[in-house]
Amino acid sequence: MPQITYIEANGAEYEIDVPVGNSVMQGAVDNMIDGILAECGGACACATCHCYVDENWTAKVGPASDIEKEMLEATPDPRDNSRLSCQIEVTEELDGLIVRLPESQY
Ligand code: FES
Repeated sequence: MPQITYIEANGAEYEIDVPVGNSVMQGAVDNMIDGILAECGGACACATCHCYVDENWTAKVGPASDIEKEMLEATPDPRDNSRLSCQIEVTEELDGLIVRLPESQY
């Protein structure tokens, strides 16, 4: 099972095995990681699952869709490597992925 590392704004790190086909958001919610709130349940409508994809992984994860980009612009601190974690599907290729969670979700 792919392992995803979540790093909260306070530096707390969690290495979680997330099933293929789940979203990166679901992996955090299932393991009670506070830095991902996911208020809309994964519908790309709340942006409380905002994460920063580690620079070494942005190419593999790929870019945000246009709708996702609009949502990200409404977050407090969007960056080039911002994604909504509910829109990242976990695949075997993402084994080892590192995402950091924004200060605003801490
Ligand atoms: S969970 Fe609401 S946008 Fe991702």
